[in-house]
Amino acid sequence: METLVETRNLKTHFPILKGILQRPVGAVRAVDDVSMTIAPGQWMGLVGESGCGKTTLGKTVLRFLRPTSGHIYFDASDEIKEEMNSLEESATNTGRLKMLRHDYDLATFSGNRLKALRRNMQLVHQDPYTSLNPRMKIKDIVGEPLVVHKLMPRSQVRERVSEILRLVGLTEQHMNRYPHEFSGGQRQRIAIARALSTNPRFIIFDEPTSALDVSVQAQILALLAQLRADYNLTYLYITHNLTVAESVCDRLAVMYLGKLVEIGPPSEVFNTPRHPYSRALVLSTPIPDPKRKRGRIILPGEVPSPANPPPGCRFHPRCDQATEECQEMEPQLESSGDSHWVACWHPLNSALN
Ligand SMILES: Nc1ncnc2c1ncn2[C@@H]1O[C@H](COP(=O)(O)OP(=O)(O)O)[C@@H](O)[C@H]1O
Ligand SMILES: [Mg+2]
Repeated sequence: METLVETRNLKTHFPILKGILQRPVGAVRAVDDVSMTIAPGQWMGLVGESGCGKTTLGKTVLRFLRPTSGHIYFDASDEIKEEMNSLEESATNTGRLKMLRHDYDLATFSGNRLKALRRNMQLVHQDPYTSLNPRMKIKDIVGEPLVVHKLMPRSQVRERVSEILRLVGLTEQHMNRYPHEFSGGQRQRIAIARALSTNPRFIIFDEPTSALDVSVQAQILALLAQLRADYNLTYLYITHNLTVAESVCDRLAVMYLGKLVEIGPPSEVFNTPRHPYSRALVLSTPIPDPKRKRGRIILPGEVPSPANPPPGCRFHPRCDQATEECQEMEPQLESSGDSHWVACWHPLNSALN
Protein backbone atom coordinates (compact mmCIF):
# COMPACT_ATOMS: atom_id res chain seq x y z
CA MET A 1 0.00 0.00 0.00
CA GLU A 2 1.21 3.48 -0.82
CA THR A 3 1.91 5.59 2.26
CA LEU A 4 2.34 9.32 2.75
CA VAL A 5 3.19 9.32 6.44
CA GLU A 6 4.75 6.52 8.42
CA THR A 7 6.15 6.07 11.90
CA ARG A 8 8.28 3.09 12.86
CA ASN A 9 8.85 2.18 16.49
CA LEU A 10 8.44 5.81 17.43
CA LYS A 11 9.11 6.73 21.06
CA THR A 12 8.88 10.11 22.75
CA HIS A 13 9.87 10.03 26.41
CA PHE A 14 10.02 13.10 28.64
CA PRO A 15 12.76 12.93 31.25
CA ILE A 16 11.72 13.34 34.90
CA LEU A 17 14.34 15.53 36.57
CA LYS A 18 14.96 15.71 40.32
CA GLY A 19 16.99 17.77 42.75
CA ILE A 20 19.07 20.91 42.32
CA LEU A 21 21.23 19.13 39.80
CA GLN A 22 18.13 18.20 37.82
CA ARG A 23 19.29 14.65 37.36
CA PRO A 24 17.05 12.38 35.27
CA VAL A 25 15.38 9.86 37.58
CA GLY A 26 12.94 8.37 35.12
CA ALA A 27 10.88 9.13 32.04
CA VAL A 28 7.29 9.75 31.08
CA ARG A 29 6.80 7.32 28.22
CA ALA A 30 4.17 9.41 26.43
CA VAL A 31 4.69 7.71 23.07
CA ASP A 32 6.11 4.24 23.45
CA ASP A 33 6.77 2.30 20.27
CA VAL A 34 4.19 3.48 17.77
CA SER A 35 4.25 2.17 14.20
CA MET A 36 1.58 3.31 11.80
CA THR A 37 1.04 4.26 8.19
CA ILE A 38 -1.26 6.82 6.63
CA ALA A 39 -2.08 6.54 2.92
CA PRO A 40 -2.30 9.59 0.65
CA GLY A 41 -5.75 11.15 0.85
CA GLN A 42 -6.67 9.16 3.95
CA TRP A 43 -8.54 10.56 6.94
CA MET A 44 -6.99 8.71 9.85
CA GLY A 45 -8.59 9.01 13.26
CA LEU A 46 -6.75 8.71 16.57
CA VAL A 47 -8.79 8.09 19.70
CA GLY A 48 -8.05 7.37 23.34
CA GLU A 49 -8.62 8.89 26.75
CA SER A 50 -6.93 12.04 27.93
CA GLY A 51 -3.27 11.46 28.78
CA CYS A 52 -2.78 8.51 26.41
CA GLY A 53 -0.19 10.34 24.32
CA LYS A 54 -2.22 11.49 21.31
CA THR A 55 -0.99 15.08 21.30
CA THR A 56 2.60 14.00 21.92
CA LEU A 57 2.38 11.58 18.99
CA GLY A 58 1.01 14.30 16.70
CA LYS A 59 3.62 16.83 17.75
CA THR A 60 6.39 14.30 17.28
CA VAL A 61 5.25 13.37 13.77
CA LEU A 62 5.31 17.07 12.85
CA ARG A 63 8.63 17.37 14.68
CA PHE A 64 7.59 20.02 17.17
CA LEU A 65 9.06 17.43 19.52
CA ARG A 66 12.18 15.36 19.04
CA PRO A 67 11.57 11.63 19.28
CA THR A 68 13.60 9.61 21.76
CA SER A 69 13.99 6.90 19.14
CA GLY A 70 12.32 5.50 16.04
CA HIS A 71 11.67 6.82 12.59
CA ILE A 72 9.28 9.16 10.81
CA TYR A 73 8.84 9.19 7.05
CA PHE A 74 6.96 11.63 4.88
CA ASP A 75 6.47 10.78 1.22
CA ALA A 76 9.40 8.36 1.17
CA SER A 77 9.22 5.55 -1.38
CA ASP A 78 8.79 1.94 -0.29
CA GLU A 79 12.11 1.03 -1.93
CA ILE A 80 14.00 3.57 0.15
CA LYS A 81 12.29 2.48 3.37
CA GLU A 82 12.98 -1.17 2.58
CA GLU A 83 16.60 -0.39 1.86
CA MET A 84 16.94 1.38 5.23
CA ASN A 85 15.31 -1.57 6.95
CA SER A 86 17.56 -4.17 5.43
CA LEU A 87 20.70 -2.06 5.97
CA GLU A 88 19.71 -1.72 9.62
CA GLU A 89 19.13 -5.44 10.01
CA SER A 90 22.31 -6.51 8.29
CA ALA A 91 24.39 -3.75 9.97
CA THR A 92 26.65 -3.68 6.91
CA ASN A 93 26.85 -0.45 4.94
CA THR A 94 26.44 1.97 7.85
CA GLY A 95 27.64 4.92 5.77
CA ARG A 96 24.82 4.48 3.25
CA LEU A 97 22.27 3.93 6.06
CA LYS A 98 23.37 7.14 7.75
CA MET A 99 23.03 9.05 4.51
CA LEU A 100 19.55 7.66 3.82
CA ARG A 101 18.42 8.42 7.37
CA HIS A 102 19.73 11.94 6.98
CA ASP A 103 17.84 12.42 3.73
CA TYR A 104 14.56 10.65 4.50
CA ASP A 105 14.04 10.16 8.24
CA LEU A 106 12.30 13.21 9.74
CA ALA A 107 13.50 12.09 13.15
CA THR A 108 16.97 13.32 12.14
CA PHE A 109 15.85 16.68 10.71
CA SER A 110 16.64 20.06 12.24
CA GLY A 111 16.97 23.73 11.27
CA ASN A 112 16.11 24.65 7.70
CA ARG A 113 15.03 21.15 6.75
CA LEU A 114 12.44 21.17 9.52
CA LYS A 115 11.26 24.55 8.38
CA ALA A 116 10.86 23.30 4.81
CA LEU A 117 8.93 20.33 6.11
CA ARG A 118 6.44 22.51 7.95
CA ARG A 119 5.15 23.87 4.66
CA ASN A 120 3.90 20.40 3.82
CA MET A 121 2.72 19.35 7.26
CA GLN A 122 0.53 21.57 9.40
CA LEU A 123 -1.13 21.41 12.81
CA VAL A 124 -4.53 22.73 13.86
CA HIS A 125 -4.82 22.95 17.63
CA GLN A 126 -7.71 22.08 19.85
CA ASP A 127 -8.22 25.51 21.19
CA PRO A 128 -8.38 28.40 18.75
CA TYR A 129 -8.77 30.76 21.72
CA THR A 130 -5.17 30.22 22.70
CA SER A 131 -3.57 29.22 19.40
CA LEU A 132 -4.40 32.46 17.55
CA ASN A 133 -2.33 35.48 18.55
CA PRO A 134 -4.89 37.93 20.03
CA ARG A 135 -2.88 40.97 18.91
CA MET A 136 -2.69 40.01 15.25
CA LYS A 137 -5.25 40.80 12.60
CA ILE A 138 -6.75 37.89 10.69
CA LYS A 139 -4.91 38.86 7.48
CA ASP A 140 -1.59 38.61 9.32
CA ILE A 141 -2.46 35.39 11.14
CA VAL A 142 -3.37 33.69 7.89
CA GLY A 143 -0.65 35.39 5.82
CA GLU A 144 2.23 34.88 8.27
CA PRO A 145 3.22 31.38 7.06
CA LEU A 146 3.37 32.71 3.48
CA VAL A 147 5.80 35.41 4.60
CA VAL A 148 7.85 33.12 6.86
CA HIS A 149 8.28 30.55 4.09
CA LYS A 150 8.79 33.29 1.47
CA LEU A 151 6.21 31.61 -0.74
CA MET A 152 5.25 34.77 -2.61
CA PRO A 153 6.07 38.48 -2.81
CA ARG A 154 4.44 40.46 0.01
CA SER A 155 2.35 42.31 -2.56
CA GLN A 156 0.54 39.08 -3.42
CA VAL A 157 -0.07 37.86 0.13
CA ARG A 158 -3.24 39.85 0.61
CA GLU A 159 -4.90 38.35 -2.41
CA ARG A 160 -3.92 34.83 -1.42
CA VAL A 161 -5.22 35.42 2.13
CA SER A 162 -8.56 36.61 0.84
CA GLU A 163 -8.75 33.55 -1.41
CA ILE A 164 -8.04 31.17 1.50
CA LEU A 165 -10.57 32.92 3.74
CA ARG A 166 -13.22 32.28 1.11
CA LEU A 167 -12.25 28.60 1.04
CA VAL A 168 -13.01 28.25 4.73
CA GLY A 169 -16.27 30.21 4.55
CA LEU A 170 -15.04 33.63 5.71
CA THR A 171 -14.85 36.82 3.65
CA GLU A 172 -12.57 39.72 2.88
CA GLN A 173 -14.41 41.83 5.41
CA HIS A 174 -12.92 39.68 8.16
CA MET A 175 -9.32 40.49 7.23
CA ASN A 176 -8.79 43.49 9.46
CA ARG A 177 -10.45 42.08 12.56
CA TYR A 178 -8.90 40.46 15.60
CA PRO A 179 -9.54 36.91 16.87
CA HIS A 180 -11.67 38.02 19.84
CA GLU A 181 -14.26 39.42 17.42
CA PHE A 182 -15.09 35.91 16.21
CA SER A 183 -17.10 32.97 17.51
CA GLY A 184 -15.44 29.66 18.42
CA GLY A 185 -16.39 28.08 15.10
CA GLN A 186 -15.11 31.05 13.11
CA ARG A 187 -11.85 31.03 15.02
CA GLN A 188 -11.39 27.39 14.15
CA ARG A 189 -12.00 28.36 10.50
CA ILE A 190 -9.25 30.97 10.83
CA ALA A 191 -6.89 28.36 12.28
CA ILE A 192 -7.73 26.05 9.36
CA ALA A 193 -7.11 28.90 6.90
CA ARG A 194 -3.72 29.52 8.45
CA ALA A 195 -2.83 25.83 8.16
CA LEU A 196 -3.96 25.79 4.52
CA SER A 197 -2.00 28.88 3.51
CA THR A 198 1.20 27.02 2.62
CA ASN A 199 -0.62 24.42 0.51
CA PRO A 200 0.23 21.52 2.82
CA ARG A 201 -0.32 17.88 1.92
CA PHE A 202 -0.84 16.61 5.45
CA ILE A 203 -2.66 18.22 8.37
CA ILE A 204 -2.95 17.02 11.95
CA PHE A 205 -6.06 18.19 13.78
CA ASP A 206 -5.76 17.95 17.55
CA GLU A 207 -9.32 17.82 18.90
CA PRO A 208 -10.34 20.68 16.60
CA THR A 209 -14.03 20.58 17.45
CA SER A 210 -14.13 19.40 21.03
CA ALA A 211 -14.76 22.92 22.38
CA LEU A 212 -17.58 23.61 19.91
CA ASP A 213 -21.33 23.04 19.92
CA VAL A 214 -22.53 19.99 18.06
CA SER A 215 -24.04 21.97 15.17
CA VAL A 216 -20.90 24.09 14.72
CA GLN A 217 -18.81 20.95 14.98
CA ALA A 218 -20.81 19.38 12.14
CA GLN A 219 -20.17 22.43 9.94
CA ILE A 220 -16.43 22.29 10.59
CA LEU A 221 -16.34 18.55 9.83
CA ALA A 222 -18.21 19.19 6.56
CA LEU A 223 -15.66 21.90 5.70
CA LEU A 224 -12.76 19.52 6.39
CA ALA A 225 -14.34 16.85 4.19
CA GLN A 226 -14.78 19.37 1.36
CA LEU A 227 -11.20 20.63 1.65
CA ARG A 228 -9.82 17.13 1.67
CA ALA A 229 -11.70 16.28 -1.52
CA ASP A 230 -10.80 19.52 -3.30
CA TYR A 231 -7.11 19.56 -2.41
CA ASN A 232 -6.36 15.87 -1.97
CA LEU A 233 -5.32 16.40 1.64
CA THR A 234 -4.34 13.71 4.11
CA TYR A 235 -5.50 14.04 7.72
CA LEU A 236 -4.63 12.71 11.14
CA TYR A 237 -7.62 13.60 13.26
CA ILE A 238 -7.20 13.35 17.03
CA THR A 239 -10.40 13.21 19.02
CA HIS A 240 -12.00 12.16 22.29
CA ASN A 241 -15.20 11.61 20.45
CA LEU A 242 -15.65 8.13 19.01
CA THR A 243 -18.93 8.99 17.36
CA VAL A 244 -17.24 11.76 15.38
CA ALA A 245 -14.32 9.48 14.55
CA GLU A 246 -16.62 6.77 13.26
CA SER A 247 -18.60 9.17 11.12
CA VAL A 248 -15.70 10.91 9.37
CA CYS A 249 -12.58 8.72 9.39
CA ASP A 250 -11.45 6.11 6.85
CA ARG A 251 -9.30 4.40 9.42
CA LEU A 252 -9.18 4.53 13.16
CA ALA A 253 -6.27 4.03 15.56
CA VAL A 254 -6.90 3.45 19.26
CA MET A 255 -4.17 4.61 21.64
CA TYR A 256 -3.65 3.54 25.24
CA LEU A 257 -0.79 4.59 27.46
CA GLY A 258 1.68 5.43 24.72
CA LYS A 259 0.84 2.51 22.45
CA LEU A 260 -1.56 1.85 19.62
CA VAL A 261 -3.68 -1.11 20.67
CA GLU A 262 -5.74 -1.36 17.50
CA ILE A 263 -5.94 0.11 13.98
CA GLY A 264 -8.62 -0.71 11.46
CA PRO A 265 -11.69 0.42 9.56
CA PRO A 266 -13.89 2.44 11.97
CA SER A 267 -16.88 0.15 11.45
CA GLU A 268 -14.80 -2.84 12.57
CA VAL A 269 -13.30 -1.07 15.56
CA PHE A 270 -16.82 -0.10 16.53
CA ASN A 271 -18.68 -3.30 15.87
CA THR A 272 -16.04 -5.95 16.50
CA PRO A 273 -13.29 -4.35 18.60
CA ARG A 274 -10.33 -6.72 18.97
CA HIS A 275 -8.73 -5.20 22.05
CA PRO A 276 -10.50 -4.93 25.41
CA TYR A 277 -9.55 -1.25 25.61
CA SER A 278 -11.23 -0.48 22.28
CA ARG A 279 -14.25 -2.40 23.45
CA ALA A 280 -14.37 -0.49 26.73
CA LEU A 281 -14.16 2.78 24.78
CA VAL A 282 -16.98 1.79 22.47
CA LEU A 283 -19.18 0.66 25.36
CA SER A 284 -18.53 3.88 27.26
CA THR A 285 -19.30 6.12 24.29
CA PRO A 286 -22.41 8.12 25.05
CA ILE A 287 -25.27 7.90 22.60
CA PRO A 288 -25.13 11.11 20.52
CA ASP A 289 -27.27 13.74 22.19
CA PRO A 290 -27.60 17.22 20.70
CA LYS A 291 -27.85 18.70 24.20
CA ARG A 292 -24.43 17.42 25.18
CA LYS A 293 -21.47 19.54 24.21
CA ARG A 294 -18.86 16.83 24.25
CA GLY A 295 -19.02 13.10 23.94
CA ARG A 296 -16.19 12.55 26.37
CA ILE A 297 -15.00 9.05 26.99
CA ILE A 298 -15.86 7.90 30.49
CA LEU A 299 -14.22 4.68 31.64
CA PRO A 300 -13.95 3.43 35.19
CA GLY A 301 -10.56 4.02 36.77
CA GLU A 302 -7.79 6.26 35.55
CA VAL A 303 -5.09 5.95 32.95
CA PRO A 304 -2.03 4.79 34.93
CA SER A 305 1.03 7.03 34.90
CA PRO A 306 3.07 6.68 31.71
CA ALA A 307 6.14 7.15 33.92
CA ASN A 308 5.48 3.70 35.33
CA PRO A 309 3.32 1.72 32.94
CA PRO A 310 1.96 -1.63 34.18
CA PRO A 311 3.93 -4.71 33.09
CA GLY A 312 2.45 -7.17 30.62
CA CYS A 313 -0.61 -5.81 28.91
CA ARG A 314 -0.80 -2.15 29.84
CA PHE A 315 -4.55 -2.30 30.11
CA HIS A 316 -4.66 -5.23 32.57
CA PRO A 317 -5.30 -3.23 35.80
CA ARG A 318 -8.51 -1.86 34.28
CA CYS A 319 -9.57 -4.89 32.29
CA ASP A 320 -12.40 -6.90 33.80
CA GLN A 321 -11.19 -10.07 32.11
CA ALA A 322 -7.51 -9.86 32.98
CA THR A 323 -5.75 -13.05 34.03
CA GLU A 324 -2.28 -13.74 35.44
CA GLU A 325 -0.82 -13.98 31.96
CA CYS A 326 -1.95 -10.44 31.25
CA GLN A 327 0.17 -9.16 34.14
CA GLU A 328 3.31 -10.87 32.97
CA MET A 329 3.52 -11.11 29.24
CA GLU A 330 3.30 -8.25 26.82
CA PRO A 331 0.91 -9.26 24.03
CA GLN A 332 2.18 -9.14 20.46
CA LEU A 333 0.77 -7.36 17.45
CA GLU A 334 -1.47 -9.34 15.12
CA SER A 335 -2.99 -8.40 11.81
CA SER A 336 -5.59 -9.46 9.35
CA GLY A 337 -6.29 -7.58 6.13
CA ASP A 338 -6.47 -3.90 6.89
CA SER A 339 -6.54 -4.28 10.69
CA HIS A 340 -3.73 -4.52 13.24
CA TRP A 341 -4.23 -5.05 16.93
CA VAL A 342 -2.43 -6.01 20.07
CA ALA A 343 -3.51 -9.58 20.72
CA CYS A 344 -5.34 -10.17 23.93
CA TRP A 345 -4.40 -13.11 26.20
CA HIS A 346 -7.99 -14.13 26.57
CA PRO A 347 -10.30 -14.30 23.56
CA LEU A 348 -12.90 -11.56 23.39
CA ASN A 349 -16.48 -12.40 22.68
CA SER A 350 -16.40 -10.91 19.25
CA ALA A 351 -19.50 -8.94 18.32
CA LEU A 352 -20.84 -6.22 20.57
CA ASN A 353 -24.52 -6.11 21.10
N1 LIG B 1 6.26 18.37 27.87
C1 LIG B 1 5.94 17.36 28.68
N2 LIG B 1 6.73 17.02 29.72
C2 LIG B 1 6.44 15.97 30.51
N3 LIG B 1 5.34 15.19 30.36
C3 LIG B 1 4.51 15.47 29.34
C4 LIG B 1 4.75 16.58 28.45
N4 LIG B 1 3.74 16.62 27.54
C5 LIG B 1 2.91 15.60 27.84
N5 LIG B 1 3.36 14.92 28.92
C6 LIG B 1 2.74 13.73 29.54
O1 LIG B 1 2.65 12.74 28.54
C7 LIG B 1 1.45 12.00 28.64
C8 LIG B 1 0.67 12.08 27.35
O2 LIG B 1 0.19 13.41 27.19
P1 LIG B 1 -0.57 13.91 25.87
O3 LIG B 1 0.24 13.55 24.69
O4 LIG B 1 -0.91 15.33 26.06
O5 LIG B 1 -1.89 12.99 25.92
P2 LIG B 1 -3.32 13.23 25.20
O6 LIG B 1 -3.14 14.22 24.10
O7 LIG B 1 -3.72 11.86 24.73
O8 LIG B 1 -4.23 13.72 26.26
C9 LIG B 1 0.70 12.58 29.85
O9 LIG B 1 1.00 11.79 30.97
C10 LIG B 1 1.30 13.96 29.98
O10 LIG B 1 1.25 14.40 31.32
MG1 LIG C 1 -4.14 16.03 23.77
